Amino acid sequence: MSTENLTELELLAIDQDLNLADGHPRQSLSRSQREVIERLPELYDLAGRAVFAELERSAHVRYLEAVGQGSAVNSTRRILSAYSSSVVMGVVARCLADSVDRVGLVHPTFDNIPDILRSWNLPLVPLEEEALLAGVARAADGVEPECVFITTPNNPTGTVLGTEQLEAIARRCRERGGLLILDTSFRGFDKRAQYDTYEVLESTEVEYVVIEDTGKLWPTSELKLGILVASENCRLAVEKGMSDVLLSVSPLILMLVSLLSEDAANGGLAALRELIATNRKALRGAFADPGMVEVDADSRVSVARVRVPRSRSADKIWRELAERGLHLLPCGPFHWARRDEGDRYLRVALARDTALIEKAAPIVARALTGCAVPA
Ligand SMILES: Cc1ncc(COP(=O)(O)O)c(C=O)c1O
Repeated sequence: MSTENLTELELLAIDQDLNLADGHPRQSLSRSQREVIERLPELYDLAGRAVFAELERSAHVRYLEAVGQGSAVNSTRRILSAYSSSVVMGVVARCLADSVDRVGLVHPTFDNIPDILRSWNLPLVPLEEEALLAGVARAADGVEPECVFITTPNNPTGTVLGTEQLEAIARRCRERGGLLILDTSFRGFDKRAQYDTYEVLESTEVEYVVIEDTGKLWPTSELKLGILVASENCRLAVEKGMSDVLLSVSPLILMLVSLLSEDAANGGLAALRELIATNRKALRGAFADPGMVEVDADSRVSVARVRVPRSRSADKIWRELAERGLHLLPCGPFHWARRDEGDRYLRVALARDTALIEKAAPIVARALTGCAVPA
Protein backbone atom coordinates (compact mmCIF):
# COMPACT_ATOMS: atom_id res chain seq x y z
CA MET A 1 0.00 0.00 0.00
CA SER A 2 1.25 3.54 -0.72
CA THR A 3 2.88 5.39 2.16
CA GLU A 4 2.18 8.90 0.88
CA ASN A 5 -0.15 11.14 2.86
CA LEU A 6 -3.37 12.38 1.25
CA THR A 7 -2.00 15.82 0.49
CA GLU A 8 0.91 14.28 -1.45
CA LEU A 9 -1.62 12.32 -3.49
CA GLU A 10 -3.69 15.47 -4.02
CA LEU A 11 -0.62 17.31 -5.28
CA LEU A 12 -0.14 14.69 -8.02
CA ALA A 13 -3.59 15.67 -9.29
CA ILE A 14 -3.46 19.42 -9.04
CA ASP A 15 -2.78 20.15 -12.71
CA GLN A 16 -4.74 17.23 -14.13
CA ASP A 17 -7.95 17.71 -16.13
CA LEU A 18 -9.76 14.97 -14.24
CA ASN A 19 -8.89 16.03 -10.70
CA LEU A 20 -11.42 14.54 -8.30
CA ALA A 21 -8.81 14.12 -5.59
CA ASP A 22 -8.73 17.09 -3.21
CA GLY A 23 -11.78 18.32 -1.31
CA HIS A 24 -11.07 21.95 -2.11
CA PRO A 25 -13.79 23.77 -4.06
CA ARG A 26 -13.02 23.85 -7.79
CA GLN A 27 -16.48 24.41 -9.27
CA SER A 28 -17.12 27.60 -11.28
CA LEU A 29 -18.04 30.75 -9.40
CA SER A 30 -21.76 31.48 -9.23
CA ARG A 31 -22.92 34.73 -10.81
CA SER A 32 -23.17 36.53 -7.48
CA GLN A 33 -19.78 35.20 -6.34
CA ARG A 34 -18.26 36.47 -9.58
CA GLU A 35 -19.73 39.90 -8.89
CA VAL A 36 -17.82 39.93 -5.59
CA ILE A 37 -14.57 38.80 -7.26
CA GLU A 38 -14.95 41.49 -9.95
CA ARG A 39 -14.82 44.07 -7.15
CA LEU A 40 -11.36 42.92 -5.96
CA PRO A 41 -9.42 46.10 -6.92
CA GLU A 42 -12.00 48.27 -5.12
CA LEU A 43 -12.04 45.90 -2.11
CA TYR A 44 -8.24 46.02 -1.97
CA ASP A 45 -8.34 49.79 -1.50
CA LEU A 46 -11.22 49.63 0.99
CA ALA A 47 -9.48 46.92 3.03
CA GLY A 48 -6.32 48.98 3.18
CA ARG A 49 -8.20 51.92 4.74
CA ALA A 50 -10.52 50.00 7.09
CA VAL A 51 -10.03 49.32 10.81
CA PHE A 52 -8.67 45.77 11.01
CA ALA A 53 -10.60 44.78 14.17
CA GLU A 54 -13.87 45.83 12.54
CA LEU A 55 -13.14 43.88 9.35
CA GLU A 56 -12.23 40.80 11.38
CA ARG A 57 -15.32 41.02 13.56
CA SER A 58 -17.54 41.45 10.51
CA ALA A 59 -16.01 38.38 8.77
CA HIS A 60 -16.46 36.26 11.91
CA VAL A 61 -20.04 37.39 12.55
CA ARG A 62 -21.19 37.02 8.95
CA TYR A 63 -19.57 33.64 8.39
CA LEU A 64 -20.74 32.19 11.70
CA GLU A 65 -24.27 33.50 11.13
CA ALA A 66 -24.34 32.01 7.61
CA VAL A 67 -23.68 28.53 9.04
CA GLY A 68 -26.09 28.86 11.97
CA GLN A 69 -23.48 29.71 14.61
CA GLY A 70 -24.39 33.32 15.36
CA SER A 71 -24.27 32.79 19.13
CA ALA A 72 -20.51 32.10 19.02
CA VAL A 73 -19.78 35.82 18.98
CA ASN A 74 -21.75 36.29 22.22
CA SER A 75 -20.41 33.12 23.89
CA THR A 76 -16.77 34.10 23.88
CA ARG A 77 -14.37 36.86 22.93
CA ARG A 78 -11.75 34.27 22.01
CA ILE A 79 -12.19 34.11 18.21
CA LEU A 80 -9.00 34.14 16.14
CA SER A 81 -8.27 34.06 12.41
CA ALA A 82 -5.64 32.12 10.46
CA TYR A 83 -4.76 31.52 6.82
CA SER A 84 -6.38 28.09 6.84
CA SER A 85 -7.87 25.49 9.15
CA SER A 86 -4.59 23.51 9.10
CA VAL A 87 -2.83 26.55 10.56
CA VAL A 88 -5.48 26.63 13.32
CA MET A 89 -4.93 22.87 13.83
CA GLY A 90 -1.21 23.45 14.24
CA VAL A 91 -1.87 26.12 16.90
CA VAL A 92 -4.31 23.85 18.77
CA ALA A 93 -1.84 20.94 18.61
CA ARG A 94 1.07 23.00 19.98
CA CYS A 95 -1.17 24.17 22.87
CA LEU A 96 -2.43 20.62 23.55
CA ALA A 97 1.15 19.34 23.72
CA ASP A 98 1.62 21.41 26.92
CA SER A 99 -1.72 20.41 28.44
CA VAL A 100 -2.83 16.82 27.83
CA ASP A 101 -1.11 13.44 27.74
CA ARG A 102 -3.14 11.95 24.86
CA VAL A 103 -5.89 12.77 22.42
CA GLY A 104 -8.88 10.63 21.46
CA LEU A 105 -9.44 11.27 17.74
CA VAL A 106 -12.35 10.27 15.51
CA HIS A 107 -11.54 7.33 13.22
CA PRO A 108 -11.41 7.58 10.23
CA THR A 109 -10.72 11.22 9.41
CA PHE A 110 -8.56 13.39 7.12
CA ASP A 111 -4.97 12.36 7.79
CA ASN A 112 -3.44 15.78 8.27
CA ILE A 113 -5.28 15.96 11.62
CA PRO A 114 -3.51 12.92 13.16
CA ASP A 115 -0.29 13.92 11.38
CA ILE A 116 -0.29 17.42 12.92
CA LEU A 117 -1.17 16.09 16.39
CA ARG A 118 1.56 13.44 16.18
CA SER A 119 4.09 16.04 15.05
CA TRP A 120 3.65 17.55 18.55
CA ASN A 121 4.29 14.08 20.07
CA LEU A 122 0.69 13.70 21.17
CA PRO A 123 -0.21 10.01 21.52
CA LEU A 124 -3.53 9.27 19.77
CA VAL A 125 -6.36 6.92 20.65
CA PRO A 126 -8.91 6.07 17.92
CA LEU A 127 -12.56 6.88 18.68
CA GLU A 128 -14.82 4.97 16.31
CA GLU A 129 -17.69 6.88 14.68
CA GLU A 130 -20.19 4.27 15.92
CA ALA A 131 -19.33 5.04 19.57
CA LEU A 132 -19.46 8.80 18.99
CA LEU A 133 -22.88 8.42 17.35
CA ALA A 134 -24.00 6.72 20.56
CA GLY A 135 -22.82 9.82 22.46
CA VAL A 136 -19.78 8.06 23.93
CA ALA A 137 -16.17 9.23 23.46
CA ARG A 138 -14.51 6.02 24.60
CA ALA A 139 -11.92 3.90 22.76
CA ALA A 140 -12.51 0.19 22.05
CA ASP A 141 -10.29 -0.76 25.02
CA GLY A 142 -12.41 1.35 27.38
CA VAL A 143 -10.03 4.33 27.57
CA GLU A 144 -11.74 7.72 27.94
CA PRO A 145 -9.11 10.24 26.81
CA GLU A 146 -8.78 13.61 28.54
CA CYS A 147 -8.97 15.38 25.19
CA VAL A 148 -11.57 14.41 22.58
CA PHE A 149 -11.17 15.56 18.97
CA ILE A 150 -14.07 15.11 16.54
CA THR A 151 -14.48 16.17 12.90
CA THR A 152 -18.17 16.88 12.26
CA PRO A 153 -19.36 16.51 9.56
CA ASN A 154 -16.56 14.03 9.09
CA ASN A 155 -14.31 13.72 6.05
CA PRO A 156 -14.66 11.30 4.21
CA THR A 157 -17.81 9.73 5.72
CA GLY A 158 -20.03 12.81 6.13
CA THR A 159 -21.06 11.60 9.60
CA VAL A 160 -22.63 14.39 11.67
CA LEU A 161 -22.81 14.54 15.44
CA GLY A 162 -26.37 15.50 16.44
CA THR A 163 -27.30 17.83 19.29
CA GLU A 164 -27.92 15.05 21.84
CA GLN A 165 -24.75 13.17 21.00
CA LEU A 166 -22.67 16.34 21.18
CA GLU A 167 -24.26 17.28 24.49
CA ALA A 168 -23.63 13.82 26.00
CA ILE A 169 -19.98 13.86 24.91
CA ALA A 170 -19.46 17.44 26.09
CA ARG A 171 -21.06 16.73 29.50
CA ARG A 172 -18.88 13.67 30.05
CA CYS A 173 -15.78 15.66 29.05
CA ARG A 174 -16.74 18.35 31.53
CA GLU A 175 -17.35 15.81 34.35
CA ARG A 176 -13.89 14.36 33.76
CA GLY A 177 -12.21 17.77 33.55
CA GLY A 178 -11.43 17.20 29.87
CA LEU A 179 -11.28 19.22 26.69
CA LEU A 180 -13.43 18.94 23.57
CA ILE A 181 -12.10 19.98 20.14
CA LEU A 182 -14.32 20.06 17.04
CA ASP A 183 -13.28 20.49 13.41
CA THR A 184 -16.40 21.73 11.61
CA SER A 185 -14.75 22.55 8.26
CA PHE A 186 -17.51 20.78 6.30
CA ARG A 187 -20.54 22.09 8.18
CA GLY A 188 -21.60 24.48 5.39
CA PHE A 189 -22.69 21.48 3.29
CA ASP A 190 -25.03 19.96 5.82
CA LYS A 191 -27.99 21.69 7.46
CA ARG A 192 -27.94 18.97 10.14
CA ALA A 193 -24.59 20.36 11.31
CA GLN A 194 -25.92 23.91 11.53
CA TYR A 195 -27.75 23.71 14.85
CA ASP A 196 -26.27 26.14 17.35
CA THR A 197 -23.21 24.17 18.44
CA TYR A 198 -22.05 26.94 20.78
CA GLU A 199 -25.32 27.01 22.70
CA VAL A 200 -24.96 23.25 23.32
CA LEU A 201 -21.29 23.50 24.32
CA GLU A 202 -21.86 26.52 26.60
CA SER A 203 -24.80 24.79 28.34
CA THR A 204 -22.45 21.99 29.45
CA GLU A 205 -19.65 24.34 30.58
CA VAL A 206 -17.11 22.10 28.85
CA GLU A 207 -13.73 23.58 27.85
CA TYR A 208 -13.82 23.63 24.07
CA VAL A 209 -12.11 24.74 20.88
CA VAL A 210 -13.96 24.74 17.55
CA ILE A 211 -12.11 24.98 14.24
CA GLU A 212 -14.32 26.70 11.66
CA ASP A 213 -13.27 26.98 8.01
CA THR A 214 -14.46 28.92 4.97
CA GLY A 215 -12.02 27.02 2.75
CA LYS A 216 -14.22 24.14 1.60
CA LEU A 217 -17.08 26.24 0.26
CA TRP A 218 -16.17 28.87 -2.29
CA PRO A 219 -13.94 28.49 -5.37
CA THR A 220 -11.80 31.49 -4.42
CA SER A 221 -8.38 30.30 -5.49
CA GLU A 222 -7.39 29.25 -1.94
CA LEU A 223 -8.29 32.65 -0.48
CA LYS A 224 -9.86 31.46 2.76
CA LEU A 225 -9.99 31.73 6.52
CA GLY A 226 -9.53 29.24 9.32
CA ILE A 227 -11.31 30.44 12.48
CA LEU A 228 -10.42 29.30 15.99
CA VAL A 229 -13.17 29.67 18.59
CA ALA A 230 -12.18 28.85 22.19
CA SER A 231 -14.43 28.91 25.26
CA GLU A 232 -13.65 31.53 27.89
CA ASN A 233 -12.81 28.73 30.35
CA CYS A 234 -10.54 26.82 27.93
CA ARG A 235 -7.11 26.25 29.46
CA LEU A 236 -5.26 26.39 26.13
CA ALA A 237 -3.17 29.54 25.55
CA VAL A 238 -4.44 29.84 21.98
CA GLU A 239 -3.76 33.58 21.65
CA LYS A 240 -0.11 33.03 22.52
CA GLY A 241 0.02 29.96 20.26
CA MET A 242 -1.41 31.93 17.33
CA SER A 243 1.01 34.81 17.94
CA ASP A 244 3.89 32.33 17.56
CA VAL A 245 2.69 31.73 14.00
CA LEU A 246 1.24 34.92 12.54
CA LEU A 247 0.49 38.60 13.08
CA SER A 248 -2.75 38.76 11.16
CA VAL A 249 -4.59 37.41 8.14
CA SER A 250 -5.12 39.61 5.10
CA PRO A 251 -7.71 42.39 5.51
CA LEU A 252 -8.66 41.80 1.89
CA ILE A 253 -9.53 38.16 2.62
CA LEU A 254 -11.56 39.23 5.66
CA MET A 255 -13.54 41.51 3.39
CA LEU A 256 -14.05 38.74 0.82
CA VAL A 257 -15.23 36.36 3.54
CA SER A 258 -17.74 38.94 4.78
CA LEU A 259 -19.21 39.45 1.31
CA LEU A 260 -19.22 35.77 0.35
CA SER A 261 -20.80 34.87 3.70
CA GLU A 262 -23.54 37.38 3.02
CA ASP A 263 -24.04 35.79 -0.39
CA ALA A 264 -24.03 32.33 1.23
CA ALA A 265 -26.75 33.37 3.67
CA ASN A 266 -28.81 34.83 0.81
CA GLY A 267 -29.10 31.60 -1.16
CA GLY A 268 -25.46 30.83 -1.98
CA LEU A 269 -25.22 27.95 0.48
CA ALA A 270 -28.51 26.48 -0.68
CA ALA A 271 -27.25 26.59 -4.30
CA LEU A 272 -24.00 24.94 -3.24
CA ARG A 273 -25.86 22.14 -1.45
CA GLU A 274 -27.91 21.62 -4.59
CA LEU A 275 -24.77 21.39 -6.76
CA ILE A 276 -23.27 18.77 -4.44
CA ALA A 277 -26.53 16.77 -4.41
CA THR A 278 -26.67 16.90 -8.24
CA ASN A 279 -23.06 15.73 -8.48
CA ARG A 280 -23.64 12.91 -5.98
CA LYS A 281 -26.59 11.78 -8.08
CA ALA A 282 -24.49 11.92 -11.27
CA LEU A 283 -21.82 9.76 -9.63
CA ARG A 284 -24.38 7.24 -8.40
CA GLY A 285 -26.13 7.19 -11.76
CA ALA A 286 -23.01 5.82 -13.43
CA PHE A 287 -23.12 2.63 -11.37
CA ALA A 288 -25.41 -0.25 -12.26
CA ASP A 289 -25.24 -1.38 -8.60
CA PRO A 290 -26.12 1.63 -6.42
CA GLY A 291 -24.86 -0.28 -3.35
CA MET A 292 -21.30 0.42 -4.46
CA VAL A 293 -21.76 4.17 -4.19
CA GLU A 294 -24.11 4.31 -1.26
CA VAL A 295 -21.44 3.63 1.31
CA ASP A 296 -22.43 6.78 3.16
CA ALA A 297 -26.02 6.91 1.96
CA ASP A 298 -26.86 9.93 4.10
CA SER A 299 -23.76 12.02 3.49
CA ARG A 300 -24.17 15.63 2.31
CA VAL A 301 -20.52 16.74 2.29
CA SER A 302 -18.56 17.56 -0.85
CA VAL A 303 -16.91 14.14 -1.12
CA ALA A 304 -18.32 10.64 -1.66
CA ARG A 305 -16.89 7.20 -0.96
CA VAL A 306 -17.28 4.34 -3.41
CA ARG A 307 -16.84 0.72 -2.37
CA VAL A 308 -14.13 -1.43 -3.93
CA PRO A 309 -14.95 -5.09 -4.67
CA ARG A 310 -13.55 -7.49 -2.03
CA SER A 311 -11.11 -9.03 -4.51
CA ARG A 312 -9.54 -5.66 -5.36
CA SER A 313 -7.49 -2.99 -3.60
CA ALA A 314 -8.44 0.71 -3.57
CA ASP A 315 -4.78 1.60 -3.70
CA LYS A 316 -4.26 -0.39 -6.91
CA ILE A 317 -7.37 1.00 -8.60
CA TRP A 318 -6.37 4.53 -7.57
CA ARG A 319 -2.96 3.95 -9.19
CA GLU A 320 -4.45 2.56 -12.42
CA LEU A 321 -6.84 5.48 -12.73
CA ALA A 322 -4.13 8.04 -11.92
CA GLU A 323 -1.98 6.59 -14.70
CA ARG A 324 -4.91 7.34 -17.03
CA GLY A 325 -5.15 10.92 -15.73
CA LEU A 326 -8.18 10.47 -13.44
CA HIS A 327 -7.34 11.29 -9.84
CA LEU A 328 -9.33 10.17 -6.79
CA LEU A 329 -8.06 9.30 -3.30
CA PRO A 330 -7.57 5.81 -1.88
CA CYS A 331 -9.09 5.83 1.61
CA GLY A 332 -6.32 3.94 3.45
CA PRO A 333 -4.72 7.10 4.93
CA PHE A 334 -8.05 8.31 6.37
CA HIS A 335 -8.02 5.18 8.55
CA TRP A 336 -5.02 6.53 10.43
CA ALA A 337 -5.02 3.77 13.09
CA ARG A 338 -5.74 0.79 10.78
CA ARG A 339 -4.88 1.76 7.23
CA ASP A 340 -5.97 -1.59 5.75
CA GLU A 341 -9.60 -0.86 6.59
CA GLY A 342 -9.62 2.09 4.21
CA ASP A 343 -8.36 0.00 1.30
CA ARG A 344 -12.01 -0.98 0.72
CA TYR A 345 -12.91 2.56 -0.46
CA LEU A 346 -12.01 5.32 -2.88
CA ARG A 347 -13.01 8.95 -2.28
CA VAL A 348 -14.41 11.13 -5.07
CA ALA A 349 -14.43 14.94 -4.70
CA LEU A 350 -17.79 16.50 -5.61
CA ALA A 351 -17.09 20.26 -5.38
CA ARG A 352 -16.60 20.42 -9.14
CA ASP A 353 -18.70 21.42 -12.15
CA THR A 354 -21.29 18.73 -12.89
CA ALA A 355 -19.91 18.21 -16.42
CA LEU A 356 -16.62 17.01 -14.90
CA ILE A 357 -18.37 14.54 -12.60
CA GLU A 358 -20.45 13.28 -15.54
CA LYS A 359 -17.29 12.74 -17.56
CA ALA A 360 -15.37 10.98 -14.79
CA ALA A 361 -18.11 8.91 -13.11
CA PRO A 362 -18.48 6.29 -15.90
CA ILE A 363 -14.70 5.81 -15.96
CA VAL A 364 -14.70 5.23 -12.19
CA ALA A 365 -17.64 2.85 -12.49
CA ARG A 366 -15.93 0.84 -15.24
CA ALA A 367 -12.67 0.65 -13.31
CA LEU A 368 -14.51 -0.73 -10.28
CA THR A 369 -16.95 -3.09 -11.92
CA GLY A 370 -15.58 -3.83 -15.34
CA CYS A 371 -19.22 -3.42 -16.40
CA ALA A 372 -20.86 -1.31 -19.07
CA VAL A 373 -22.30 1.98 -17.95
CA PRO A 374 -26.09 2.34 -17.98
CA ALA A 375 -27.39 4.80 -20.58
C1 LIG B 1 -11.76 18.02 8.08
C2 LIG B 1 -10.63 18.84 7.54
N1 LIG B 1 -10.08 19.78 8.32
C3 LIG B 1 -9.07 20.55 7.88
C4 LIG B 1 -8.54 20.39 6.61
C5 LIG B 1 -7.40 21.27 6.16
O1 LIG B 1 -7.83 22.29 5.33
P1 LIG B 1 -6.77 23.33 4.70
O2 LIG B 1 -5.91 22.54 3.78
O3 LIG B 1 -7.58 24.34 3.99
O4 LIG B 1 -6.01 23.88 5.83
C6 LIG B 1 -9.07 19.43 5.77
C7 LIG B 1 -8.55 19.29 4.41
O5 LIG B 1 -9.14 18.70 3.55
C8 LIG B 1 -10.14 18.62 6.25
O6 LIG B 1 -10.66 17.68 5.48
